[in-house]
Amino acid sequence: MNLPDQVGRDVVVIGGCGHVGLPLALAFADRGARVAIYDLSEAAVALVNSGRMPFAEPGAGEVLGRVLGAGRLVASADPAIVGTAEHVVVVIGTPVDEHLNPDQTAIPKALGGCVRYLHNGQLLVLRSTVFPGVTALVEKMVAGLGLEIEVAFCPERIAEGKAMTELFELPQIISARSAAGVQRASALFGRLTGKLVVMSPEEAELAKLFTNVWRYIKFATANQLYMMANERGLDFERIRVGLTEDYPRAADMPAAGFAAGPCLFKDTMQLAAYNDGNFPLGHSAMAVNEGLPLYVMHRLEQRFKLESMTVGILGMAFKAGSDDIRSSLSYKLKRILEFKAGAVLCTDPYVTADPHLLPLDEVIARSDLLVVGAPHPDYQGLVTGKPAADIWGVLGYGVRI
Ligand SMILES: NC(=O)c1ccc[n+]([C@@H]2O[C@H](COP(=O)([O-])OP(=O)(O)OC[C@H]3O[C@@H](n4cnc5c(N)ncnc54)[C@H](O)[C@@H]3O)[C@@H](O)[C@H]2O)c1
Repeated sequence: MNLPDQVGRDVVVIGGCGHVGLPLALAFADRGARVAIYDLSEAAVALVNSGRMPFAEPGAGEVLGRVLGAGRLVASADPAIVGTAEHVVVVIGTPVDEHLNPDQTAIPKALGGCVRYLHNGQLLVLRSTVFPGVTALVEKMVAGLGLEIEVAFCPERIAEGKAMTELFELPQIISARSAAGVQRASALFGRLTGKLVVMSPEEAELAKLFTNVWRYIKFATANQLYMMANERGLDFERIRVGLTEDYPRAADMPAAGFAAGPCLFKDTMQLAAYNDGNFPLGHSAMAVNEGLPLYVMHRLEQRFKLESMTVGILGMAFKAGSDDIRSSLSYKLKRILEFKAGAVLCTDPYVTADPHLLPLDEVIARSDLLVVGAPHPDYQGLVTGKPAADIWGVLGYGVRI
């Protein structure tokens, strides 16, 4: 298929200023591709074009400077840019709503905003985590427009904070309905790695959800075992470290801690909705993981007169070393404590999105009790002289609460 003359780029990433889209755009550009970003956020587009990352991602800032300097990356909030590349990769957010329902129309709606710039011969790659069946829905949409465009689904599996290494190291899952679609998507992602795993679109949609759900359930298992040990005055981390030592069959048992962030919980709810709400393991995992901040609060209530105390939360990001507060359980803990404690103060060395955060020294000085919300490396071995609840054991006094 001959592409129109205006197609001078290799890839355009829709949602390309986001946590997943930007590292992907940078990775393609760093491997020599001519890349465009289309993103609704004008603020993020301006930041990217000026060489600044809209969020923290180790190693990404350096690559951004390099590919901008080489003229291989440009970002725009104008949908017309979608017409300028052979491969169109969609990586917009796919959250569940406030009632935990997935939105099957998120991707078709996003494509609706730039559909007039799509043209015959492009390869449309869905990279967001989608509700199963969305790839088929998009295929139907494209066919209904009378466009000859191959559709592929190639899910993103990086973890935030590791994007710039994992994009080149993890196998890429490739799926498309036709052999030509598989071949073209393989050639695109073959720019990043030689490790490609080919599936059908329906298999790949489930593969992505199963990946996240598996991890979420593993965290829930560790969290429930933590609570069990803690109730008996035992240190779960000492038990976990002991039982996993040179014992490969339990080597993947995670430490306890808040299992939060923009993906694991919502993808577990997507899979539950897909299975008509019949997902006892997923719902149990949700109850355990989302219940952990409540458990922490109940334990603290038993030991302290919270109503007359100032409680300081150390770490508001959803995980260690991150500036991302999306679906962070530290904020759930904060909300619960605000009902129970005299006052709640919060700090985080990475988070810039919350104007209410205070410096660490001030939070320590003004608090009667501390709770670790995210085990940032900065807190390793921190001596505070204050009682502290620390599920991760980052302060070095064990994990019992
Ligand atoms: N964050 C992760 O660690 C991670 C890992 C693997 C997969 N995923 C999946 O990747 C997808 C994106 O997640 P994210 O964390 O990067 O989200 P994000 O919110 O950080 O990024 C989404 C970007 O898309 C832009 N956008 C939204 N609607 C748009 C539209 N209609 N047109 C153009 N741009 C639009 C936003 O402005 C934003 O910059 C989700 O499906 C998520 O489940 C995320």
